[in-house]
Amino acid sequence: MKKETEFAHIARPKPDKGTAVNPGITRASTLLFEQAQNLYRTDMRTYGRHGSAIHDAVESCFNALEGGEGTSLTPSGLSACTLAILSVAKAGDHILMTDSVYGPTRYFCQKFLAGMGVETEHYDPRIGANIKGLIRRNTSLIIMETPGSLTFEIQDIPAICGVARTYDIATMVDNTWSAGLTLNPLALGADMSIHSATKYISGHSDIMFGAVVSRTGNIADKVTRTRKYLGYATSPDDAYQVLRGFRTLNTRFRQQERSAQKLAEWLSTRNEVEQVLHPSVPDHPDHALWRRDFTGGACLFGVILKPRSQGQVIAFINRLRYFGIGYSYGGYESVVIHCDPQLDRRFGGKLPGPLIRFGCGLENVNDMIADVEQALGHVF
Ligand SMILES: Cc1ncc(COP(=O)(O)O)c(C=O)c1O
Repeated sequence: MKKETEFAHIARPKPDKGTAVNPGITRASTLLFEQAQNLYRTDMRTYGRHGSAIHDAVESCFNALEGGEGTSLTPSGLSACTLAILSVAKAGDHILMTDSVYGPTRYFCQKFLAGMGVETEHYDPRIGANIKGLIRRNTSLIIMETPGSLTFEIQDIPAICGVARTYDIATMVDNTWSAGLTLNPLALGADMSIHSATKYISGHSDIMFGAVVSRTGNIADKVTRTRKYLGYATSPDDAYQVLRGFRTLNTRFRQQERSAQKLAEWLSTRNEVEQVLHPSVPDHPDHALWRRDFTGGACLFGVILKPRSQGQVIAFINRLRYFGIGYSYGGYESVVIHCDPQLDRRFGGKLPGPLIRFGCGLENVNDMIADVEQALGHVF
């Protein structure tokens, strides 16, 4: 069964006499029992933090999306990243983290985990099997993200996971970019795949939500236990919206993927542009790796402009009409940011010009192109 078929049918109530198509929401903190002895059972939910039927449905969707053996839901994508890390790391450990990781995940390790006695070392996202040279006796986790946040490097997941397996080191991949539709890190050997469902999966820029999907039952148990210790819970209303997002995910994603591809191709023909950072563009340095491991693209890509002043870059962005100026992506609306103020890299050197990131929404792509064209023409 194709994923869009599965997401149209998963977790639907059995029709009876006029049954609603969608499952209901149960809001609860306290759960009541007829028998006192049930309060201490471990084989059933005893408190609201343990979830509800809607949470179970969303977990099934994530397991179906990635072919996972278990999913833990979290209140944001960042908390999904930190949950995966905390499920593995302990005082005295050494973690290897791609230099292209999402910024707040980087700062969680640098500024919080370091204080708990966990050392984080950044590596070149293009390191591949050479990661072997960085492994230490106490390395417990390798963190990947592909494409990298802002700079869009593609990582060699099978090569890195192959090395990790030899040394019994856990691996995780932030898979937010692909929504799980064009990349399956678990099938390529990763232990945990992370999603910010805030983006495409909820799809309307009104929900914060995340998930850690695990390759095996053992890993899933570890993550579930850690989630319980941390007390992460998600509201059933938000879970409902995420389930609703899954119903239409594939259709929305495919249109946004096509629009981004077309806009990226158009931008790569423009004189104002130094380089388009979308792995589907043939001159992207990791295009071959992307073709090998991905089945498609996504809505988000970067553009390095020819050298321009910060003022010109800001004037260009302010001139756009259909691209909202804001963080995140994957909603129905197009967004744009300038990236240089937040770029923090040890590898890869200085970029040849200012970096802008576009996230395509569901507007008509010709309107998007016309919008970018008028802003470029006005400012440059
Ligand atoms: C790759 C990636 N991972 C994680 C996150 C964090 O997700 P959230 O905003 O849901 O906390 C983001 C948000 O932009 C992201 O781009």
